[in-house]
Amino acid sequence: MLANLKDILNEAYVNNYAVGSFNSYNYETFKGIIDAADETKIPVILAFGAKYLKNMSLETAYSIAKSLGEGSETPICLHLDHCNDLATVFRAIRTGFGSVMYDGSALPFEENVKNTKLVCQIAHACGVSVEAELGCLAAGERSHEGSVSDVEVYTEPMAAKQFVDATQVDALAVAIGTVHGMYKTVPNIRLDILENINKLLTIPLVLHGGSGLSEKDILGCIAKGIAKINVNTEISVYAVEKTTAFLANNQPHFSELSLNQVGYVKEIVKKYISFFNRQCLAASDR
Ligand code: 13P
Repeated sequence: MLANLKDILNEAYVNNYAVGSFNSYNYETFKGIIDAADETKIPVILAFGAKYLKNMSLETAYSIAKSLGEGSETPICLHLDHCNDLATVFRAIRTGFGSVMYDGSALPFEENVKNTKLVCQIAHACGVSVEAELGCLAAGERSHEGSVSDVEVYTEPMAAKQFVDATQVDALAVAIGTVHGMYKTVPNIRLDILENINKLLTIPLVLHGGSGLSEKDILGCIAKGIAKINVNTEISVYAVEKTTAFLANNQPHFSELSLNQVGYVKEIVKKYISFFNRQCLAASDR
């Protein structure tokens, strides 16, 4: 069933687990992610990045999510990921997305506040949740979102408090040492900064740059307020590598390739779901 982000995240935040947000831009990613949710019975977020408007329109993304999501008993949220264009954000709200991320993190603080506040007023009136971002992630390898010029700007806890009070966002993405893309070295996650932000904000926090994080780092972040974790690059890297290896030895029909790719997406999504929901899965085993 299609769900609103705020409901899924608040539940995760108070119960100490995180919801996985996986980038979706073609049939294979939508289907692989929803299949993983169905098999584990754990909610997921389908993150359609504004970057992927070249692959499909907002309306097509919504139609696929609605058609596959409504066949599922597990809550599925269709979310607009990283969008700095207000017109596209408003169109996603009109189209039926359950959540939007207005990303004004590259703007001066006051302008980010002004735009995010406007998005919140409109989105909330329509029952849609809003994520925003403060700070900036650096870029790792093979990222589709980061650019090599991106440098880490850690989120400043007092500024985060001022931002959330002024805008009333439902969730805030924070920069604490993760990168967009695969890690070149061992990540240095600043749990001290995260802890300070969490103490001041008490709303679900979002971790971008989930690809390649260890289970230990993930659990450490969840314990300090992270309730949504985004994964994109690793799914793509794995699916492309597996497809390449398969094509080296087979001459499949196009339809078989698509089925395989749904399976590759599902494998990575299930791996992260198991890290993000350690606590819930352990409780359901008892
Ligand atoms: P990765 O590509 O590093 O997994 O990051 C995904 C992300 O943050 C999407 O917004």
